[in-house]
Amino acid sequence: MELTRRPRRLRKNAAIRDLVHETDVRVTDLIAPVFVVEGAQKKEAVSSMPGIFQYSIDTLQIHLKEVWDSGVRSVIFFGVPDHKDACGSGAWDPDGVVQRALRMAKSSYPDLVCIADICLCEYTDHGHCGIVRDGEILNDETLEYLSRAAVSCAAAGADIVAPSDMMDGRIGHMRRALDQAGYQDTLIMAYSVKYASSFYGPFREAADSAPAFGDRKTYQMDWRNKTEAVVETALDIEEGADIVMVKPALAYLDMVKTIRDRFDLPVCTYSVSGEYAMIKAAAQNGWIDEKSVVLESLTAMKRAGAGMIITYYALPAARWIQEQQKGETYESH
Ligand code: PBG
Repeated sequence: MELTRRPRRLRKNAAIRDLVHETDVRVTDLIAPVFVVEGAQKKEAVSSMPGIFQYSIDTLQIHLKEVWDSGVRSVIFFGVPDHKDACGSGAWDPDGVVQRALRMAKSSYPDLVCIADICLCEYTDHGHCGIVRDGEILNDETLEYLSRAAVSCAAAGADIVAPSDMMDGRIGHMRRALDQAGYQDTLIMAYSVKYASSFYGPFREAADSAPAFGDRKTYQMDWRNKTEAVVETALDIEEGADIVMVKPALAYLDMVKTIRDRFDLPVCTYSVSGEYAMIKAAAQNGWIDEKSVVLESLTAMKRAGAGMIITYYALPAARWIQEQQKGETYESH
């Protein structure tokens, strides 16, 4: 049969496919989340996320060596404190669990990009991301506390602070607070497009941060909406965000593309705990091939326009990417 275009020619063999392929995931695009607990000698498994652990600072130091050796160059810290109170004061305690972890990380691995997730939910006894009065999550009253947390993490060495609370005006408030405290060079990665997603379920076990009442729908975004994502991102950029984020990732690739196309600054996407748990569970059952599903998913996030990806698969993915680069996908000759 005579055909002018035969797209299959471009897929003829592995070497041609590698020659013409368009999208790569680089190891340095990946950001590994870490959960830090109080105490010593702890490495507690998170049951809904097999392969993910909560570390005390001493065991975290060993884990960060694994991170560094894997080629991953960025981590995002989440604190799981023993003490919680109404206003989440552990979030800005200079000796808080994340602040100590940051100091250890920056002294052991000065070139590791340390990102501090900034939120109150892990530190409040009610588990909400803001100050609560009469069952309402207060916006403006919360900003001061978030800024304190950001300044205290910057002081402990965070290269980037990443507010994930979704209060209005937090980026501007935080930028001013950081600048006034002398941290002009600390970046802000804004969780700009953060949906009120059920995909966060396993994280709330890992970070012990489930809300004691109600849900997060008055502050996190309604997943039926698209235009408000553009508004949220525009505001965060106006207020001083350096990097913006879309979260979750897999079910929201349309939003990754929308934000990539409309704004001119780096876009991160967060492949959340529920995405990890789904792939892990299916893989453990032998229903899918873990490595190829993970690489396919991460590549899809890059193809949609993400420049960087927070993923619980960062370390294994780094190994798989390096295997691919070494050409281990080819038959040897
Ligand atoms: C804190 C925060 C959450 C996640 C990241 N930062 C939980 C939430 O908003 O309920 C979720 C991450 C994940 O599911 O992997 N606000």
